[in-house]
Amino acid sequence: MYVIQSRSLLAPGIAEFVVEAPLIAKKRKPGNFVIVRPTKTGERIPLTIVTSDAGQGTITLIVQAIGKTTRMMHQMGEGDAFEDVVGPLGEPTPVANYGRVVCIGGGVGTAVIYPMAKGLKDAGNEVISIIGAQKSDMVILEKEMGAVSDELLITTDDGSRGMKGFVTQALAGVMERGDQIHGIYATGPLPMMKAVADQTRASGTRTLVSLNPIMMDGTGMCGACRVTVGDSLKFACVDGPEFDAHAINFDELITRNRAYMKQESEALKSLESDQSCKAVRAL
Ligand SMILES: Cc1cc2nc3c(=O)[nH]c(=O)nc-3n(C[C@H](O)[C@H](O)[C@H](O)COP(=O)(O)OP(=O)(O)OC[C@H]3O[C@@H](n4cnc5c(N)ncnc54)[C@H](O)[C@@H]3O)c2cc1C
Ligand code: FES
Repeated sequence: MYVIQSRSLLAPGIAEFVVEAPLIAKKRKPGNFVIVRPTKTGERIPLTIVTSDAGQGTITLIVQAIGKTTRMMHQMGEGDAFEDVVGPLGEPTPVANYGRVVCIGGGVGTAVIYPMAKGLKDAGNEVISIIGAQKSDMVILEKEMGAVSDELLITTDDGSRGMKGFVTQALAGVMERGDQIHGIYATGPLPMMKAVADQTRASGTRTLVSLNPIMMDGTGMCGACRVTVGDSLKFACVDGPEFDAHAINFDELITRNRAYMKQESEALKSLESDQSCKAVRAL
């Protein structure tokens, strides 16, 4: 059992959990993730390790409530425990002093880009960060991203905070300055990562994205997370989750991620009806 030490709400529908997991905390590197099964009968879901504290034996996870499992997690709090937390999984972000890099996080993707930005800053890079959200109260980790960035740009779709528009518009502004950029790292919804890849292809700027395919075992055995990268078939859980954005077949991945939409929506409906039945019985 993995006890939740604290839970706080960062934005509507986005919560941060500090979880006791001493062995994972000791080994974890930027870019690693865990597979969490919140309850005995629950499904496993992949979540990035946002940060860890080896001394305290804790890892921090940030979870957006979108479907059955993430909503169940949001109903858990301090003192509750996740049934299983497996990791650290995945290849860590390759980190060296490249020079000037741009780190882009869209929505809850900011939780995934933060450890990468921190690793790159610690390695001596000049880090320009762009974080985007739908509106001002959905911006997360602004202080943390600011602390590991030489420059932080914020965008919101409705202009209620920072620049109005998408992260790609802010990236266009940075690229137009003409300063040499030695690497771009992006994570967020698949259409956003695809748009960043399209934007940086012509200049040939090295662009890495952290992919979010459906995962099950996280060990390279089940094939659920397969993605086409160039001429190769890769398993994101063991070969990634970061890949060269210019080589990814995004259209195939977007289609694969929609494969279980019907089942996902049925699972969510059954959770909601189960909970409303419990509420009625309690009256
Ligand atoms: C390596 C990795 C790291 C991740 N890190 C984080 C993280 O730090 N924080 C976080 O909140 N989420 C993260 N995700 C996404 C998270 O795993 C999904 O949101 C979760 O599996 C959804 O589970 P669910 O049962 O709540 O929703 P489901 O019922 O499974 O899905 C509900 C909706 O979400 C979409 N969806 C399903 N799986 C994913 C997915 N993998 N990515 C995006 N959308 C999906 C479905 O198409 C559907 O529309 C990560 C995914 C991967 C692969
Ligand atoms: S999740 Fe099973 S092979 Fe990657």
